[in-house]
Amino acid sequence: MDTHYHLSIAHYFLLFLLASSYMQTRDELSSSVKKNLCIDEERQALLIFKQHLVDHSGRLSSWVGHDCCRWVGISCNNLTSHVVKMDLRNPYPPLIDVRNPDPVFPINEEWTKSAYVKSSLGGKINASLLSLKHLNYLDLSYNYFDSNQIPKFFGELKSLQYLNLSHASFGGEIPLSLGNLSSLNFLDLSSNFDLSSRSLNWLSRLSSMKYLDLGGINLSGTGVNWVYDVNMLPSLSELRLPLCFQIESSPVLSLQSINLTSLLILDLSDNMFTSAFPSWLFNLTSLITLDISINNFNGPFPSEFANFKYLEHLDLSETGLKGRIPKVIGNLCKLKFLSLSDNKFDGGIEEFWRSFSNCPNNSLESLDLSNCELKSQLPDSLGVLKCLQSLNLMGNNLWGSIPDFMGNFSSLKILDLSDNNMTGSIPQSLGQLSQLVSLHLAGNSWEGNLTEAHFINLTRLQDFQLGCQVGNIDRPMSLIFDVAYDWVPPFQLHRIVITNCWVGHGFWIWLQSQTELVDIFLNGNGISDSIPKEWLLMISSQLIFLDLSNNQFHGNLPSHLKFPSLKYIDLSRNQLEGLIPHWWSTTISVFNLGSNLFSGSIPSNIGLMMPNLGTLTLYENNLSGTIPPSVWNMQQLLVLSLRRNQFSGELPCALSVESKLVFLDVGLNNLSGNIPSSLGVLSSLKLLKLNNNNIGGEIPDSLQNCSSLMSIDLGDNKLSGNIPLWIGGSHVPMLSRLLLRSNYFSGHISQQLCNLRHLHILDLSYNNLSVATYVFKKRNSVVQ
Ligand SMILES: *[C@@H]1O[C@H](CO)[C@@H](O)[C@H](O)[C@H]1NC(C)=O
Ligand SMILES: *[C@@H]1O[C@H](CO)[C@@H](O)[C@H](O)[C@H]1NC(C)=O
Ligand SMILES: *[C@@H]1O[C@H](CO)[C@@H](O)[C@H](O)[C@H]1NC(C)=O
Ligand SMILES: *[C@@H]1O[C@H](CO)[C@@H](O)[C@H](O)[C@H]1NC(C)=O
Ligand SMILES: *[C@@H]1O[C@H](CO)[C@@H](O)[C@H](O)[C@H]1NC(C)=O
Ligand SMILES: *[C@@H]1O[C@H](CO)[C@@H](O)[C@H](O)[C@H]1NC(C)=O
Ligand SMILES: *[C@@H]1O[C@H](CO)[C@@H](O)[C@H](O)[C@H]1NC(C)=O
Ligand SMILES: *[C@@H]1O[C@H](CO)[C@@H](O)[C@H](O)[C@H]1NC(C)=O
Ligand SMILES: *[C@@H]1O[C@H](CO)[C@@H](O)[C@H](O)[C@H]1NC(C)=O
Ligand SMILES: *[C@@H]1O[C@H](CO)[C@@H](O)[C@H](O)[C@H]1NC(C)=O
Ligand SMILES: *[C@@H]1O[C@H](CO)[C@@H](O)[C@H](O)[C@H]1NC(C)=O
Ligand SMILES: *[C@@H]1O[C@H](CO)[C@@H](O)[C@H](O)[C@H]1NC(C)=O
Repeated sequence: MDTHYHLSIAHYFLLFLLASSYMQTRDELSSSVKKNLCIDEERQALLIFKQHLVDHSGRLSSWVGHDCCRWVGISCNNLTSHVVKMDLRNPYPPLIDVRNPDPVFPINEEWTKSAYVKSSLGGKINASLLSLKHLNYLDLSYNYFDSNQIPKFFGELKSLQYLNLSHASFGGEIPLSLGNLSSLNFLDLSSNFDLSSRSLNWLSRLSSMKYLDLGGINLSGTGVNWVYDVNMLPSLSELRLPLCFQIESSPVLSLQSINLTSLLILDLSDNMFTSAFPSWLFNLTSLITLDISINNFNGPFPSEFANFKYLEHLDLSETGLKGRIPKVIGNLCKLKFLSLSDNKFDGGIEEFWRSFSNCPNNSLESLDLSNCELKSQLPDSLGVLKCLQSLNLMGNNLWGSIPDFMGNFSSLKILDLSDNNMTGSIPQSLGQLSQLVSLHLAGNSWEGNLTEAHFINLTRLQDFQLGCQVGNIDRPMSLIFDVAYDWVPPFQLHRIVITNCWVGHGFWIWLQSQTELVDIFLNGNGISDSIPKEWLLMISSQLIFLDLSNNQFHGNLPSHLKFPSLKYIDLSRNQLEGLIPHWWSTTISVFNLGSNLFSGSIPSNIGLMMPNLGTLTLYENNLSGTIPPSVWNMQQLLVLSLRRNQFSGELPCALSVESKLVFLDVGLNNLSGNIPSSLGVLSSLKLLKLNNNNIGGEIPDSLQNCSSLMSIDLGDNKLSGNIPLWIGGSHVPMLSRLLLRSNYFSGHISQQLCNLRHLHILDLSYNNLSVATYVFKKRNSVVQ
């Protein structure tokens, strides 16, 4: 054994020596054969190009040395050594759209530091590129050129066949010179939202163009002529113009004869086209994908859709269609994707269902008829759609029960029947849908029991949504979620939404086996239990929404936890007790523990624990002590409700001018002192409730700076002095409720109050006010 071992080592060592020397000679050999692998003039040009670019992450750091053909992103022709391809696409696509950040997740530090921003190239594109006379492929997509123009000289890169500048933040007009790129096959300028073009006439010379994507570019200035210009491209097989015509009532030109006979993919979605469907559309008989969703086309559904014999993908959602749902769909036997969602079909559905039987061998994978005002039962003919993976019938008026055959849709991944008028029990056959990921059944009137059998094979289920009707006294809950105490579910849910159903005792037990939960909405299910720390700890790292409101949860909350992703907690209307927990989350924006039995004071460092809170509602508890300053210093706070507790002390005399507070309710507490004039900095304040406290002094004049006020309730306090004249002036023009009852206000009721045009409720009772002789004129006002 030993000898053999040593022999092997020696053997490998020898092999290694041989191999390295062989590689050396091969390298020498190849460099001598291909002496000038990279053409020096082109190498120089690339270095100048690099010099003018901004490259924070050093993506082009390999651009050194002689052989430019080996540089990152560069390819040369292996016979002529000319640079033919430059692919500098940013390998890290942006996580969010640069121009349209999701308002819930605004651009923040994290994003700015993201891989996308770091590895974006920017700066100037030097005309030295013109030395690359054989460049036929140029991709600068996903970089960041800061609204600079696309260089005019690109039009001189005569060999270009592929030009991709999408998502690169170019701006200004598309240079007409691009019309000189007569070899171009692929042109993708999409998602440069500052780019525009007033005429597409420059396209007319690009007769070998196969792929054109101008999505997101402002083409409103082209009027109706764009159709004419695009029709000059007889080789076009893919045309994408979504989000290009954003002017109300954009018309579509009619055409005498159509050139686009090779067109396979047409995307005109998200425009504002207003007209009947243009008739030339129906001559594009080779189409396999047609997306004209989100437009204002009008008129009935044209029967010419039957011309599209090869159509696989048809998206007509939000297209402005009305009237009968077309049976013609049944002639499109190749369809894989069909969406008619968000149109106003009010009839013809039976015909539509029947038309499926024209295609017994259909391969429809996705059917979306959501929000179409459909009134019918689910018909047996639906059973012919054997390949369905996604069925969305949400938001209609469908009635009757779920047919048993649904359990035979063995490929189904998504089933959404929510917000209809369906009844009956949920068939056990749904438990056979082993591919199901998402099951939405909320907003119907189901009956009967849900048991283990309903889930027996749902191993992939991630998203389960069910809502029940709150019934009458005899049958308080129409649907019962009834599984055994020791049930082990076959799935790991990411989202669970069950509202107003009756869940049996086993429910809360098996839910704790779900360790991948991200969103939990279990409002009003009569759950009577405690919220265990181990479970919260287990899901705390990924949890985003937690709503357990309106149940009978009791006991204490775990006192110290961290939630790195949490946005929303609602545990209101339960019987939870003990202290307000120390939960740390920089992401949370809503924290609602109202209507419970919490006692003690608000943690003084709450502003540190939840620095980005927008809503803090702790109303109807047994909380006491003073309201800690850190509550008043929360910069993002919009809603603060501490009503009906035993808070004491005074309102703060210093408030941040940055405060965005809209809703402030500290009524029904033991607060004392005066109304601080600092409240005047709350310029966004709409509702102010300080009622039923021991607050004295006068109404400070600074309050007139709260010009958004709509409702003021200062009733049942010890306030005195006159009712300030500004209340009836133009300072608080939106005021609709003014409640000052049970105080010590004195003096005349000013006629100025009649100027409050929106006033609906005025209560000045139980004060020392004298009523003048005039009559209140405002009709809607309730005067006491
Ligand atoms: C040149 O490269 C292409 C693509 O990489 C390859 O198909 C071709 O065989 C190569 N030609 C020579 C002569 O090496
Ligand atoms: C291109 O680079 C050359 C050499 O660095 C420079 O002189 C010229 O001004 C640059 N042109 C542009 C348009 O940046
Ligand atoms: C252009 O680049 C974008 C982003 O890198 C990519 O998604 C798109 O498919 C490319 N377009 C073409 C025609 O290849
Ligand atoms: C297109 O090329 C021709 C000839 O090279 C040139 O005269 C013309 O100015 C170019 N057009 C544009 C718009 O750059
Ligand atoms: C788009 O361009 C038209 C005219 O070219 C202009 O009137 C309109 O304001 C532009 N729209 C946007 C959103 O920039
Ligand atoms: C069809 O395309 C050809 C080639 O671009 C062009 O000459 C012809 O005018 C086009 N026809 C129409 C009706 O636009
Ligand atoms: C569409 O096709 C019909 C019949 O084939 C023909 O009469 C009509 O002229 C065509 N329309 C266009 C715009 O090409
Ligand atoms: C459906 O497919 C079967 C077998 O693949 C075939 O025999 C039958 O003719 C097809 N029917 C239609 C209407 O295409
Ligand atoms: C479901 O499929 C099975 C086997 O293909 C069949 O026997 C049964 O009749 C089908 N059920 C319904 C309700 O269509
Ligand atoms: C719901 O369906 C029932 C019949 O099952 C019908 O009487 C009722 O009008 C429907 N409700 C709505 C809102 O369509
Ligand atoms: C569950 O699905 C598997 C495969 O998809 C199948 O073999 C099995 O019979 C199914 N079990 C039940 C109880 O339907
Ligand atoms: C539902 O379950 C309850 C007990 O949990 C039982 O009394 C009732 O009969 C069941 N109803 C149906 C329709 O199975």
